[in-house]
Amino acid sequence: MTSSETLWLEIDRFLATLDPAHAGVASVRARMREMTDIRSRSLLRPANAPLCGYLEEALAAIETERAIPLQQALRHAPLHWESYRGYVADTIGPHFPKRHAYASLMVGADPDWACDFDLGLFLITPGTLYRDHHHLAPELYVPLTGPSKWRFGAGKDWAEKPAGAIVWNPPNQVHATLVGTVPFLCLYAWTEAVHVPAKVDFSEDWNALEAVG
Ligand SMILES: [Fe+2]
Repeated sequence: MTSSETLWLEIDRFLATLDPAHAGVASVRARMREMTDIRSRSLLRPANAPLCGYLEEALAAIETERAIPLQQALRHAPLHWESYRGYVADTIGPHFPKRHAYASLMVGADPDWACDFDLGLFLITPGTLYRDHHHLAPELYVPLTGPSKWRFGAGKDWAEKPAGAIVWNPPNQVHATLVGTVPFLCLYAWTEAVHVPAKVDFSEDWNALEAVG
């Protein structure tokens, strides 16, 4: 089995340890089952280190017992990290572009998004706000490290979530993430509408939150 196929298998096994009846988990696993041809071709782009750093620290911060096999698969997977460029210039703020990276398992194998599905890893450095935003794509996040703070509406209260929490964003639900001292590493999946870019939703507390980081 290739490292790419192993990674798909361990992601699926990890998701299976979560609530199997959860609509988001079930829909992501169903879409993953459709990607049999993709699994061996996911990691064909050159492996690189994320420009934001912190990958080793984030992998070391995975402490959830059920995520250890996935942690091992990630250590052996030649991931291709890049920055998300879908936001209109400046709306996402001056810090976030340099303080995050994602590694898609679909871009290399399905560059035209014919499958209309994305799956991968998402990394954010400590002390970073991922500003409030929304997108048409239904989205599953499962943090592998934690805790991290989340809110679902600009200006609303933050809720702390541990590693292994399920965050399921229905289409166009506004959401934001505030990363504390632990580097944030999470699984992400967009189950459809992957070609529609995300958009930022203004909140007047950004400056105060970003001054802390
Ligand atoms: Fe999102």
